[in-house]
Amino acid sequence: MLRPPYRRYQRLYTYHLDQTPLPSLDDPDLIGAWGEDDGTVLFFHRPKERLIAELCRQTGARLHYQADLDYEEWEAGREIVPFQVGDLRVAPAWDEQEADIRLDPSVIFGSGFHPSTRLCLEMLLKYVNNDGQTGLNGSADHPSAGSQPAAAVKHFLPVKRALDLGCGTGLLAIAAARRGVAQVLAVDNNPLACQVAAANCRLNQVEERVTVRQLDLRREPPATGEFDLVMANLYQGLLRELMANPDFWLARYHILAGFITPMEEELLALLPADRVRLVERISRERWCCWVLAARC
Ligand SMILES: C[S@@+](CC[C@H](N)C(=O)[O-])C[C@H]1O[C@@H](n2cnc3c(N)ncnc32)[C@H](O)[C@@H]1O
Repeated sequence: MLRPPYRRYQRLYTYHLDQTPLPSLDDPDLIGAWGEDDGTVLFFHRPKERLIAELCRQTGARLHYQADLDYEEWEAGREIVPFQVGDLRVAPAWDEQEADIRLDPSVIFGSGFHPSTRLCLEMLLKYVNNDGQTGLNGSADHPSAGSQPAAAVKHFLPVKRALDLGCGTGLLAIAAARRGVAQVLAVDNNPLACQVAAANCRLNQVEERVTVRQLDLRREPPATGEFDLVMANLYQGLLRELMANPDFWLARYHILAGFITPMEEELLALLPADRVRLVERISRERWCCWVLAARC
């Protein structure tokens, strides 16, 4: 995360150690520590060979590899600049112009530049209005090619509580709060993602509406019954696991993404057709997003 005196990211210095968790570091150049199953990746604004050598000496950890790269390379070659989705303007924390959402993407997924995040944002903004309502009323039982809505929005239903599964930077959760959703639970298994999402909620003053929780969806898949809307931009394997669990389908609406067109058929077969219907399917650069509604 950005902490003074840093106002943006330029070069990233990364160190992958074979232990997790590691003792917390209080280094002014630290961006964050990303815990993984097989170790921890530490991100800094500056080279830290001496600090890492000392950390290894103290903990017995070993350095797997180190690398330094430009922030743009980390962000898949994209420059992180302000962008507009519908009437919502999202800007990086270092941009000085007005924005509805200000985001420190840090080194976490969810800058808003990946097609799957962007599609989820578009669908969220399309179907959830400023009063925390949703305009789901269409019907499309089979996905169709292209990105045109399968049915017109006809009336609105309330979304008071939303669940953001795999929240990354928290962008979707914050956007839901901006659209008037009263309570959002944002979960991620990556502790750094949770820290970044919570910081972004504070930056946007929605921390009263958005609760961020560290949770592994594989071990503790949350029951969705108390939520009106579930947003899940996840990788296909995890989506498959969640979709096979009947508790995943207790919410009234779902926005699902994180899969590409060749994966759709397999996922489509997991939809409980008697309980949910596909309202809209949208795709861009082969990434897909589905909006689903419970059959009532
Ligand atoms: C594709 S990113 C989506 C981030 C953000 N919601 C967006 O739309 O840009 C998926 C997120 O899911 C998280 N994730 C992966 N496996 C998870 C698990 N087992 N439990 C919880 N979160 C998980 C990752 O850490 C990552 O932040």
